[in-house]
Amino acid sequence: MNPIAQVLYMASATLFVLGVRFLGSPASARSGNRLLAIGMLLALGTTLAFAPHYDHVVWVALVALLGSAIGVVSARRVRMTAMPQMVAFFNGLGGGAAALVAAGGWPGSSGAASWLALLTMVLGSVSFGGSIIAFLKLQEWIRVDLRMALGLRLLGLTVLAAVVAGAVYLATSGHGGIGAALGVMAAAAAGGALLTLPIGGADMPVVISLLNALTGLSAAATGFVLQNQLLIIAGTLVGASGTILTQQMSRAMHRSLMNVIWSGKAAQGEAGTAEGTVQPITHDDTAMLLRYAKKVVVVPGYGLAVARAQLEVKQVIDLLNGFGVEVLFGIHPVAGRMPGHMNVLLAEADVAYDQLWEMDRINPRFRDTDVVLVVGANDVTNPAARTQTGSPLFGMPILNVDEARHVVVLKRSMGRGFAGVDNPLYVDPKTRMLFGDAKHSLGALVRELESAQ
Ligand code: TAP
Repeated sequence: MNPIAQVLYMASATLFVLGVRFLGSPASARSGNRLLAIGMLLALGTTLAFAPHYDHVVWVALVALLGSAIGVVSARRVRMTAMPQMVAFFNGLGGGAAALVAAGGWPGSSGAASWLALLTMVLGSVSFGGSIIAFLKLQEWIRVDLRMALGLRLLGLTVLAAVVAGAVYLATSGHGGIGAALGVMAAAAAGGALLTLPIGGADMPVVISLLNALTGLSAAATGFVLQNQLLIIAGTLVGASGTILTQQMSRAMHRSLMNVIWSGKAAQGEAGTAEGTVQPITHDDTAMLLRYAKKVVVVPGYGLAVARAQLEVKQVIDLLNGFGVEVLFGIHPVAGRMPGHMNVLLAEADVAYDQLWEMDRINPRFRDTDVVLVVGANDVTNPAARTQTGSPLFGMPILNVDEARHVVVLKRSMGRGFAGVDNPLYVDPKTRMLFGDAKHSLGALVRELESAQ
């Protein structure tokens, strides 16, 4: 490879590593995103500028422009609640692209190159098939009768076993052309799709993260096939971060990855019961409680994303800050439906990063908190996770909001959360329920607090 291209590729790889590092904190995540975009632009530009076959450059440039246009339009238009399916769709395209590139170079290859090409075709296609099903399920364009779950899983495993056997045969025998490559890819995509079909919609983010790791690995393997160091580095970064994220998400839900993929226990839920009296509260009483508090912690959850109420939350905390009330946010690692969901929503509303406290940091603070305002969060505040051994939430670390002096919960009804179980917090004598859509309730609180100024 041209030495200048090599230096530029190393610069891109450095930007990728720094970008991922910066994504680790909400305060630097935007800069991380920018660095990653610049790294990708540099990588694409270098590839085009030093492409050996100039007759292909126009095609590559056209396709890159088309892809970028689709990416920009989708990212601008997609709603925050639909972000997981967009990630799934793009991830599938990445896996499919890696598989196609490997398939193009495979016929006629031998030894390690042939093995690597086949590995890429299999991993990339599994990721493609699985991700497209994840996308369709999250969009609610397809539904699966859960009575078929075991059959689908067994069929998926059988297909994948056949794919592995076929790929090993092709690699060792040296037979096969583009037809065999397409056959391997179609069967691997079908295997990935069959295994993803029975997974519950809300478990999908964990599966998407796992499929993302597979796409990364297939891209890294493509890098070996094409002897492109940048692809190897970028693919390995995606593979490693996808794997770590998958583990962290499973751990934060206190479920093994096997449980998510194979049984979907929490998605179906085992109904626990919470007995006691539910005590509603009015907007003006809530406003007064908040206005005269010293310390308030806001706990956002999935309902905040559904209601798209982040701007109203920001207005409430600004008003409270104006009254001299200290306000922090308690962020659970799996609040919402995707990693960092709450951080992204609150960043959109310009909430200061130093007000966002992670679970381990905020939990010891609840004891000296006057009021916790739970906005559309349910499972991540459910004390049954600490006590009810039969609950699907048992063992999941939660935000200990019940340790605060007062708790006000904003939600529309007594409806359950993702795990499908009752929340004893709602009948705790110190809890008051402010029923209604979170955007509407917070808007009313803003008006009450403004009139109290
Ligand atoms: P959930 O347990 O899903 O509860 C959300 C609550 O929001 C519901 O009880 C709902 O009650 C309320 N809600 C919905 N729309 C609302 C609206 N417009 N206004 C006000 N409230 C509204 O949310 P959570 O506490 O954030 O927990 C997340 C769950 O998702 C966890 O069980 C977690 O394991 C799971 N999960 C998370 C992830 C990631 S990575 N974040 C991935 C997979 C699964 P009403 O219907 O009564 O309003």
